[in-house]
Amino acid sequence: MDSIKAIIMDMFSAGTDTTSTLLEWTMNELMRNPKTLRKLRDEVRQVTEGKSDVTEDDLEHMPYLAAVIKESLWLHSPVPLLPREAIKDTKVLGYNVAAGTQVFVYTTIWEDPEEFQPERFLDSSVDYKVLHFGLIPFGAGRRGCPGITFAKVVNELALARMLFHFEFSLLNGTKPEDLDVDEALGITVRRKFPLLVVASPRI
Ligand code: HEM
Repeated sequence: MDSIKAIIMDMFSAGTDTTSTLLEWTMNELMRNPKTLRKLRDEVRQVTEGKSDVTEDDLEHMPYLAAVIKESLWLHSPVPLLPREAIKDTKVLGYNVAAGTQVFVYTTIWEDPEEFQPERFLDSSVDYKVLHFGLIPFGAGRRGCPGITFAKVVNELALARMLFHFEFSLLNGTKPEDLDVDEALGITVRRKFPLLVVASPRI
């Protein structure tokens, strides 16, 4: 019973904060980049034309949505730095790594790293493979996140449904360039201040 409780607790703590952190960063970037927001909203609404909601089977027809989530995970990885410790003296790519050394694995840098450009993941083979170092938000190596497949669907579906049902705008007087990307440190790296946007039901 203790093990079952620990596993359930692990799933909740690993799966909830990561997801809400990612979705808040994604909305932040979409509000800062109105063209991207429009392009994504158009994709979601074209694919679901005539339907009353987005369903899981619509997602495979939304490549731009997948690219937006990948870009967001790359630019604002919710869990960016996880330390590992060498348990014995070892050699990696010719470097000596002494037992007890803390090692951080970090992602490859892309061009224009500070720009939100989902297009870089369109028509690209880069995926959430834990050994593909261009995109490792779910960890690298053998001990990766076991929730990858579930997380991908939940993130895409949640974002698609928001854009299907609502129009989003900034508070009066706020311009896209006023939105900051300040980070607060914690287990996940969240926005320092909550994102404030107006969600109006789609007419
Ligand atoms: C945006 C969503 C998510 C991100 C970015 C994320 C990222 C990560 C990362 C980086 C790790 C550490 C992997 C390592 O040790 O190398 C991890 C572990 C874990 N994740 Fe996720 N995760 C997400 C969603 C989820 C979801 C939805 C679940 C389950 C429902 C989940 C369950 C877990 C569990 C149980 C672990 C611990 C595995 C272990 O102890 O080795 N994650 N996640």
